Amino acid sequence: MPRRGAKKPDPSLDLSRHLLRLADLPVPCDPAALFPDRPAAPLELEVGSGKGLFLATAATSRPDHAFLGIEIATGYARLCAARLARAGLTNARMIQGDGGFLVGSVIPDRRLAAVHVYFPDPWWKARHKKRRVLSAAFLAQVGRVLAPAGKLHIWTDVEEYFLESLVLAAATGCFAAPEEEPPGLPAHDLDYRTHFERRTRLAGAPVWRAALVRTDSPAPVARIEPPPATGFVPPATGFVPPATGFVPPATG
Ligand SMILES: C[S@@+](CC[C@H](N)C(=O)[O-])C[C@H]1O[C@@H](n2cnc3c(N)ncnc32)[C@H](O)[C@@H]1O
Repeated sequence: MPRRGAKKPDPSLDLSRHLLRLADLPVPCDPAALFPDRPAAPLELEVGSGKGLFLATAATSRPDHAFLGIEIATGYARLCAARLARAGLTNARMIQGDGGFLVGSVIPDRRLAAVHVYFPDPWWKARHKKRRVLSAAFLAQVGRVLAPAGKLHIWTDVEEYFLESLVLAAATGCFAAPEEEPPGLPAHDLDYRTHFERRTRLAGAPVWRAALVRTDSPAPVARIEPPPATGFVPPATGFVPPATGFVPPATG
């Protein structure tokens, strides 16, 4: 389905408490540190939050949990953060950046109660398939960051991507057999898990849904340590620009 660009949020809205850049986080980083007022709250992460309907709804209905969203597209990350800010939510924050890096390198082992991936981009062309979020490496890292009994939720309208993801998830050895998640009966126009669920169901197309529960088997992989920053500072050239003799005119 084609997508429109993200609308710009009201520029007067203060996003400072709801929007972070992944590049500004230390590596590793305990996400509980991002919610200092609720250090013991179970933490849930959504990868690819789009317009932020899931985050806003979940954070409103479960105030005892803390929710993090990560969205690679800057415009959508800002839109999500604006939605959280407008709702005055203190238990949800948005990160702009790559969910693969966040899960693979930033979040410590067994830290999350749930990971949500809803309608990830299918990347249909064979040469683009490697950009899919639900790769073997990503699913193994989800197995690392989920606490035992934590859940990975996968919903999509692409049957082939869904089935392939379940096979890859099973191969990690981290998850019990997938549980089907029943569709809700919407009580109002925005009573869907996400915007993509809404548009898919309104179009009468099927949605594949599963929840995979983390077993207490050992993590199959270690956190990926990113290469150190080079810290390279170009040497001073000793170049001193010649005096031009230019004297700016007096402004008064
Ligand atoms: C098809 S949209 C679905 C949005 C939302 N989950 C929904 O169901 O309405 C997929 C979203 O994932 C985001 N995305 C793609 N790759 C990502 C990545 N590596 N990390 C974070 N977000 C990503 C895209 O920018 C896009 O907003």
